[in-house]
Amino acid sequence: MTKLWGGRFQKSAENWVDEFGASIGFDQQLVMEDIEGSVAHVTMLGAQGILDSKDVEQILGGLAELKLAAEAGELEFRVANEDIHLNLEKMLTDIIGPVGGKLHTGRSRNDQVSTDMHLFLKKRVVEVVDLIGTFQKTILHKAEQHVETIAPGYTHLQRAQPISFAHHLMAYFWMLQRDKDRFNESMKRIDILPLGAGAMAGTTFPIDREKTAELLGFSDIYPNSMDAVSDRDFIVEFLSNSSLLMTHLSRFAEEIIIWSTDEFKFIELDDAFSTGSSIMPQKKNPDMAELIRGKTGRVYGNLIGLLTVLKGTPLTYNKDMQEDKEGMFDTVHTILGSLKIFEGMVRTMAVKTERLHQAVHSDFSNATELADYLAAKGMPFREAHEVTGKLVFTCIQRGIFLLDLPLVEMQNESKLIEQDVYDVLAPEAAVRRRNSLGGTGFDQVRLQIEKAKALL
Ligand code: ARG
Repeated sequence: MTKLWGGRFQKSAENWVDEFGASIGFDQQLVMEDIEGSVAHVTMLGAQGILDSKDVEQILGGLAELKLAAEAGELEFRVANEDIHLNLEKMLTDIIGPVGGKLHTGRSRNDQVSTDMHLFLKKRVVEVVDLIGTFQKTILHKAEQHVETIAPGYTHLQRAQPISFAHHLMAYFWMLQRDKDRFNESMKRIDILPLGAGAMAGTTFPIDREKTAELLGFSDIYPNSMDAVSDRDFIVEFLSNSSLLMTHLSRFAEEIIIWSTDEFKFIELDDAFSTGSSIMPQKKNPDMAELIRGKTGRVYGNLIGLLTVLKGTPLTYNKDMQEDKEGMFDTVHTILGSLKIFEGMVRTMAVKTERLHQAVHSDFSNATELADYLAAKGMPFREAHEVTGKLVFTCIQRGIFLLDLPLVEMQNESKLIEQDVYDVLAPEAAVRRRNSLGGTGFDQVRLQIEKAKALL
């Protein structure tokens, strides 16, 4: 088959060579954006008198037909036509004849493909932000139910200090808030029109880029045609924002996995978000959380992949850039799926409040309370730390906890300790009294939840 650009060629490449160069296998996902871009371009060409209205009408008619067929999934893409742009142009001329060839006036595939990607990401980023918001609402709702559920807080995965379980959940709310901000902020670099840059130097036709931008709903236009066709920063930025989002989801997934173990039993995932084992009948595995943790790797890979593709490419367009697409599609697919699953997983999970309560009453996470108690009574904190450490050691040797230690024994280490120490050592008190701004005190957590609500 002769190529749309076949004029200067004496022979055609063999199929297997064409196959290697073709992107239609994946860039067909841009079919709607490509048609959208063409409609705007040809409308502008008509308005500028570059094409006469009869031609424009015919081309618009053909594009409308292609759009309908695309929506119905009836388009048959061919590897021989290389990519989405040439496939659609070929189909257009098949429908309306040689006049279809006028569509490409004053345009190149270089500004066309970049326009498609901008249009595509504009829509997807809105979806991503939306899903992050939904997930945040679910976290907030869960947190509201567990403000007074006390749980062990960890550092080094060792029991550290008692916390409100809501406080723990809300930490993820704020990570997601930053993710959402980053995606929203990146929009101003996605919302720019490259079309009209031509192959890279602009065009001799009296085009009106402002008109095209207006028709496509772009708020800005690339001021430099060379930058317009070679810029893929907006995709790198999307992949980078997605990587950080996945980092957050992966950390949360890891906690869900740990909390679901028999050793912790802090939560139980709903059956709908768990799987069984083909051999061990007792198993209930947190596969979805593990998959999200695992999929983080491919999103990082997509980011590093594109950065590496770009680092050695001279201005302007190089075919290397065709490698920008699969990673972007894959990332969109991965993060939308992960967000959706995670939301459902958290919404339906059961929090084992009894077990959390029991956990926090059978550890030494109230040791800081004793040290603070002594320090508040005037003992230098270092000394208070030492005294408390000794009492903890005594308890460990006897297999008891600080609350079980009789007052006289505590007083052997320091006469400053009085009966009221037992109130201070209660894990509930430990949480309630951490009332510094942003702390885990119940009142602070309620305040935090109010702040979060106001943002949604
Ligand atoms: N399929 C190509 C891509 O995705 C479209 C641009 C082709 N431009 C060119 N000069 N060969 O990058």
